[in-house]
Amino acid sequence: MSSNTEITPAWHLFLFTLVGACSGLIYTVFKGDGEPLLASLGFSGIAFAATYCMICWLGDAFKRVGFKGRDRSKRDQREIPETMGAVCAVIYLFTMILFLPFPFYEYLVKSTSGGGNRDLTVEETYTGRTLHRFPHNKLGEYLSALLSLQSMAILGVADDLFDIRWRHKLFLPAIAAIPMLVVYYVDFGVTNVVVPFRLQPYLGQLLNLSWGYYIYMALVAIFCPNAINIYAGINGLEVGQSIVVASAIIANDMLYISVPGHPATSAHLLSLYFLVPFLGVSLALWLHNKYPSKVFVGDTYCYFAGMTFAVVGILGHFSKTLLLCFLPQLFNAAYSLPQLLHIVPCPRHRMPKFNPRTGLLHASTATFKSPPRPVIATILRLLSKLRLVQLHEQDGEIVECSNLTAMNLFLVHFGPMREDRVTEWLLGIQVLSCAVGLFVRHQLALWVFPHDNLRFSMGSFMPAAEAV
Ligand code: UD1
Ligand code: MG
Repeated sequence: MSSNTEITPAWHLFLFTLVGACSGLIYTVFKGDGEPLLASLGFSGIAFAATYCMICWLGDAFKRVGFKGRDRSKRDQREIPETMGAVCAVIYLFTMILFLPFPFYEYLVKSTSGGGNRDLTVEETYTGRTLHRFPHNKLGEYLSALLSLQSMAILGVADDLFDIRWRHKLFLPAIAAIPMLVVYYVDFGVTNVVVPFRLQPYLGQLLNLSWGYYIYMALVAIFCPNAINIYAGINGLEVGQSIVVASAIIANDMLYISVPGHPATSAHLLSLYFLVPFLGVSLALWLHNKYPSKVFVGDTYCYFAGMTFAVVGILGHFSKTLLLCFLPQLFNAAYSLPQLLHIVPCPRHRMPKFNPRTGLLHASTATFKSPPRPVIATILRLLSKLRLVQLHEQDGEIVECSNLTAMNLFLVHFGPMREDRVTEWLLGIQVLSCAVGLFVRHQLALWVFPHDNLRFSMGSFMPAAEAV
């Protein structure tokens, strides 16, 4: 059976119209010195159309070279193309390269004294360039981010090909993050954090974490890709969660750029330049990956998506806000730790178990080959009393426990459920937690921090501090 998907006439018409409109938008921006963000929107629309079509066309080619996987939660367990995240990553990287001249175009061509004047305020070189005004630091940030994303996509493809061991792949994102961290050091270099009110008498207003801050950023780069990869296993969840998180960060960025003259505008613009095209390619992938999946995203997508978030969080100086959009993933990672550290057995797949008779998903289980140590057994029984894990005992010994993932915990609480329903619920929780995260960031943070940097006034703003 062919895995290539037909593009319907209605989709053909829609995609042609979209590409036409987006090309027009890019041309208008180019001709009229318009906002690069509008050009980014145009490129994102074209990236959406390209990703949608390429995924339709490449299914069989991917399967032929071994990029395929069984959909374990279906009766026929059919084999479908995997690693479609590679298509997203490649189209995304090309899009970002083609977009590159737009944010820097004004510096290359002309600079004015404002107020609509077209005069050149600095001396022109013979090419008409005003190179001494050129923001090399911004270009450095942009290129280093692309390099980190490219490394991550390569690692993802390698993982999909060779199934790299967890203990190895856990740390590889930190290496991929080095270009970006070096640019952060050279360009921004701020390693101060704002100290909460109550601790200020002891620690002062700002605390310099020095190299500890770089370790923290490397940990963010390790966490984001892996957290998405382990919060996976049902149709549409990997891309769905990434779309929700990207939308939340985009909304946060829009808040900042809507404040005229805000000092963080350029950082949030950079974040938008990276996230809007990401949303474009992800939406196209989601249309193919949502229940019932026609393709799988592969580890490539999880790593690429996670690294995109890490890049914008670090270079945009809002890594803590980013983590507030990752609350379900943070919970899932913390809850998974006993299995990841092999304190509790960890099977190769921890995704929920499909019951072909009822068509519903149940919490999957891990089997103890030998009874757990008394201290582990006591903790597991305590967690079981709190309904945080489901145990199966025989002759007073624990023989099985539900796999420690947020998805299984959800099924332990709410009982067996259809796969599409579980995805809908988990994505609903993601939307809610992102909204709560941003509310905490902009409202509740004022209880412990002196100010919310969104409501800046030149007098109160502390440029040397990282965002709260
Ligand atoms: C991670 C999880 C693993 C989970 C898997 C699912 C940890 C430590 N590892 O492993 O527990 O089972 O992701 O992605 O938490 N698949 C489906 N339906 C889907 C998505 C995936 O059946 O909607 C299956 C397919 O057979 C696919 C495979 O999962 O081939 C992909 O697994 P892979 O990404 O290689 O697993 P890991 O990332 O190593
Ligand atoms: Mg995976």
